[in-house]
Amino acid sequence: MKKRFCLALIIAGFAGFSAAAGNPQAGKEKAAACGGCHGEDGNNAAEIFAALKAPKLAGQLPEYIAKQIHDFKAGRRANEQMTPQAQAVAEADIADIAAYFGQQKPTPAEGRKDLAAQGEKLFYKGKGRPAVVAACVGCHGLKGVGRGDWNRTYSRAPVVLAPALGGQHAAYIAAQLKAYKDGARNNDPAKVMRDIAGRLDEQDIAAVSEYLATVVR
Ligand code: HEC
Ligand code: HEC
Repeated sequence: MKKRFCLALIIAGFAGFSAAAGNPQAGKEKAAACGGCHGEDGNNAAEIFAALKAPKLAGQLPEYIAKQIHDFKAGRRANEQMTPQAQAVAEADIADIAAYFGQQKPTPAEGRKDLAAQGEKLFYKGKGRPAVVAACVGCHGLKGVGRGDWNRTYSRAPVVLAPALGGQHAAYIAAQLKAYKDGARNNDPAKVMRDIAGRLDEQDIAAVSEYLATVVR
């Protein structure tokens, strides 16, 4: 009886894993349509970013890439460039594309040292009164590697599938924080990021964005 129960768990665990995990080799080809904006390996150069405003996808958590594509498809997140791209991606290809980008290594930028030092403090320590902000590291992980393990660690807290941020373009991070702050982006579960970004001032946003862009992970 006990043995059969264990076997069932192993099979269930494996089925869950294989359903979620894509094939990065197959994903590379399928990701060709994304390269023009996001960079072939998910590291678009600074000049391309300045023109197109598409984030790096290199090293992003595959589950997070999949969630965002689903959100764009369903209209929970909207962007003139990205919404039609997401609509064109076949459901069956999402996991493979996400696995491919997830395996690439992000290339950090130089960044401004003075601002980055302040941003590092905010990321690892948060902010005290009056506008209390939890340390970003708690959800986004050391060096901003992201956390996709919450549904395994806390089965009742799926609110935190927190994306990787280390090495991302500073202006992208700042733009997303501003969009959460003014509510233009509202696809964060339990308003987790709208709440946090609402307590950050312009200086905080500039500093933490500049810091994250420089992080090597
Ligand atoms: C025409 C340019 C363009 C193409 C092609 C494109 N994207 Fe995007 N993508 C964007 C832009 C711009 C954003 C930022 C949207 C925003 O600011 O909310 C974005 C955002 C995203 C995000 C959200 C990432 C994050 O960290 O928030 C994902 C995931 C994504 N794209 C995946 C893809 C995939 C996969 C493909 C290929 C199937 C693709 N994109 C093709 C322009 C593009
Ligand atoms: C309680 C957990 C939690 C904390 C603390 C937290 N975040 Fe987040 N963050 C999230 C989640 C979850 C998302 C993804 C929302 C979604 O699904 O679209 C997110 C998304 C983001 C994004 C969007 C990135 C992208 O590529 O789409 C940025 C930028 C961000 N967080 C920055 C920060 C910063 C800076 C701090 C600290 C000041 C912080 N976060 C603190 C949970 C958290």
